[in-house]
Amino acid sequence: MIKYSHGVLAHLVERFHGMEEVRSSNLLYSTTFIMKTILTGVRVNSEPTLGNFLGAILPMVRLANEYSQQGWQVNIFVPDLHSIISEVDGDFQKNLVNSIKYYLAAGLRINENIHIYRQSYVPAHSEMAWILNCVATTGELGRMIQFKEKSAGQKSVNVGIFDYPVLMAADILLYSANYVPVGEDQFQHIELTRDIAIRVNHKFGDIFVIPEKSADQAKFMGIVNGDGIRIRDLTNPEKKMSKSTIGDNSKIMLLDNPEKAAKKIMSATTDSYANIKYDMLNQPGISNLLQIESLLTGVPLQEVISTWAGESHYGDLKKKVAESVSTFLANFQADFQAISDEQIYELLEVGEAYANDAADAKLLQLQKAFKLR
Ligand code: TRP
Repeated sequence: MIKYSHGVLAHLVERFHGMEEVRSSNLLYSTTFIMKTILTGVRVNSEPTLGNFLGAILPMVRLANEYSQQGWQVNIFVPDLHSIISEVDGDFQKNLVNSIKYYLAAGLRINENIHIYRQSYVPAHSEMAWILNCVATTGELGRMIQFKEKSAGQKSVNVGIFDYPVLMAADILLYSANYVPVGEDQFQHIELTRDIAIRVNHKFGDIFVIPEKSADQAKFMGIVNGDGIRIRDLTNPEKKMSKSTIGDNSKIMLLDNPEKAAKKIMSATTDSYANIKYDMLNQPGISNLLQIESLLTGVPLQEVISTWAGESHYGDLKKKVAESVSTFLANFQADFQAISDEQIYELLEVGEAYANDAADAKLLQLQKAFKLR
């Protein structure tokens, strides 16, 4: 087994452990002792922002570490076939390897229950998507918001854009995933996956495990990924921090030079109340800084809030947060640089062997139902 020990950021992962008791009693022990599966797709992107890291990557790493230790299967895969619905650039392979490195640098502890693989290296995804194409309807797919948005105003779009959710259903159903942590924009696809699976089961018997409803998915993620963790744009704190925003000062990228990132915090937009208070509605800039400070230092938000309550010098808070950000980035980047491409490829090879076995077995069941075998 491959072992990784990127421990520098361990405190960030540990920070969430207190919440685990709540989660365990609610979701794990009160249901059954049957081990479940969490599955998530990691979109290949250029560099993530600090907001992506704190809001999505870190919570997923926490989930993966915690649940895999308790025997759950955790599949973290790269939907590279989904990526090609639009043209990818020359950095695609490099970005793909890096997207996995971010998870490892964030503290993902690989064990025998965590599987990392590329979709296109597991042909069963494409095969099952075809069969499910014969279950899903054009009416359903035409109602998908993502499809409507991507095809709006176009005379004609590639069929992949239309069929995207069916491939996603295959991704999920092949591994009998119960929980599929995704952003809200993907909830409609989860519901479609459920509809397809229910239809197949109705006709052929219990072939698929039905993933949880998106509302329950949200609850599952909510404990770590609730409203609280939505890092704001530094220059326009009414908005979410986003990598597509123009203006370098609005966002911090994970591989930003730490000093440069500290300067961005120092120049962050605040307000003129001269009163440090956590109030996302009226003082989003200051609240955002308090939030970032809490997440990066591991000090609970309430504690950070009361430490600074009533202070009037925003510059002092900025200095403290700037320091936390630059320390975090320096540590994270050291961990990130220490991971070689070879380590990632080794991990993928192991993961893809597992994934092919698991997926082929489920595919065969479906092929038999359709009289193909
Ligand atoms: N559609 C997802 C997104 O845009 C990525 C994805 C593809 C995915 N297949 C998946 C996520 C299966 C979860 C499960 O983010």
